[in-house]
Amino acid sequence: MDRLSNRNLCRPIFFSAHTQKQNSYRKSESGVLAKCYLPPLFSVAPMMDWTDNHYRTLARIISKHAWLYTEMVASETIVHQKDNLDRFLEFSPDQHPIVLQIGGSNIESLAKATELSNAYCYDEINLNCGCPSPKVAGHGGFGASLMLDPKFVAEAMSAIAANTNVPVSVKCRIGVDDHDSYDELCDFICMVSSISPTKHFIIHSRKALLNGISPAENRSIPPLKYEYFYGLLRDFPNLTFTINGGITSVGEINAALEAGAHGVMIGRAAYNNPWHILGHVDTAIYGEPSTGLTRRQVLEKYQYYGDSVLRKYGHRPTVRDIVKPLLNLFHSAPGNGLWKRKADAAFRNCTTIKSFFEETLDAIPDSVLDSPVAELPPGREDLFANIDNLLPAPYRTREEIVICA
Ligand SMILES: Cc1cc2nc3c(=O)[nH]c(=O)nc-3n(C[C@H](O)[C@H](O)[C@H](O)COP(=O)(O)O)c2cc1C
Repeated sequence: MDRLSNRNLCRPIFFSAHTQKQNSYRKSESGVLAKCYLPPLFSVAPMMDWTDNHYRTLARIISKHAWLYTEMVASETIVHQKDNLDRFLEFSPDQHPIVLQIGGSNIESLAKATELSNAYCYDEINLNCGCPSPKVAGHGGFGASLMLDPKFVAEAMSAIAANTNVPVSVKCRIGVDDHDSYDELCDFICMVSSISPTKHFIIHSRKALLNGISPAENRSIPPLKYEYFYGLLRDFPNLTFTINGGITSVGEINAALEAGAHGVMIGRAAYNNPWHILGHVDTAIYGEPSTGLTRRQVLEKYQYYGDSVLRKYGHRPTVRDIVKPLLNLFHSAPGNGLWKRKADAAFRNCTTIKSFFEETLDAIPDSVLDSPVAELPPGREDLFANIDNLLPAPYRTREEIVICA
């Protein structure tokens, strides 16, 4: 049996958070997560201002199996808003499996935020160690800058894990500024996984540059080094790793899994083209039946959701807030340009999602609205073909180096 089909047999089962707590992810007496834990085969990345409740609702209508991440929520926000938490942490039960990503650099506040989030029954808690934004890494001292202090991350992860019953994970870069050698990355993973119960790492496979470039440039200028990711798989066989960064098609997701990745996380492509990425996840990655929905049916379900949450918190969310993730649903389809122009005008006068659709959807031909997702588009299926020849030299822990000297 090949590695992929083997993994499909033991992929995480989508228990409700309640069942999950009772069964598959229970910690052993030593506090170590049960061995059966495997990370999601496919997940949509946490993205500030993008993966909000509205986007996640759309994503879940299109794919039943993709794991969804929240936007990063700062631990201080959770602690300070403890009487107003629904606004930051509430989600509909349909969104399971869902991971809460928190950010922070104060252990007490990370622990408290985790404890407060328990009432919402997220399926996993993830710590952001990859955000390069000056607001986060500079003034906040968290995000990617945490990679420079692996001991702190290990202690923070222990505190987070001590306050929840669900698995914990870290999302990080492959390095920061000049701290970008493979050995430094391994030192980070080694320290965090040996001191804390963290067994799952999501690796955005480019380093972060903390001085001088914007967060957006930090997602394109530093080169992708997938060889570091595959080096980690080789050197830490007891841990699980999800690959992230620059993967843009279902063919590439399957290529990464075939090359040994335990999971694949996609960010921008899943937001910019949700229909063609998420529409294939259930069938082409999980081997499960498709929802079979057309885009018209997706929009009908979304309209029901949208009108039920409109102006739930004072004047927010607005029609524009709720429609925002839909604006990419017709990516490169006939009528897309006209629909966006009509949408711009409709934002000014529509007061419900229903009326917004009535005013704009005639821009999209019925053939587009009423077709199920098309054949899999081609991708770079050979993206990882040569990876074994590029791997860095195997990691030796500091102790091994001392012993060998
Ligand atoms: C608009 C935007 C917001 C993001 N916000 C976060 C965030 O809150 N937390 C995080 O860990 N990464 C964040 N990221 C990074 C993504 O999670 C992901 O690591 C990155 O986009 C690379 O994956 P991709 O090439 O598939 O997009 C963000 C990315 C984008 C585009």
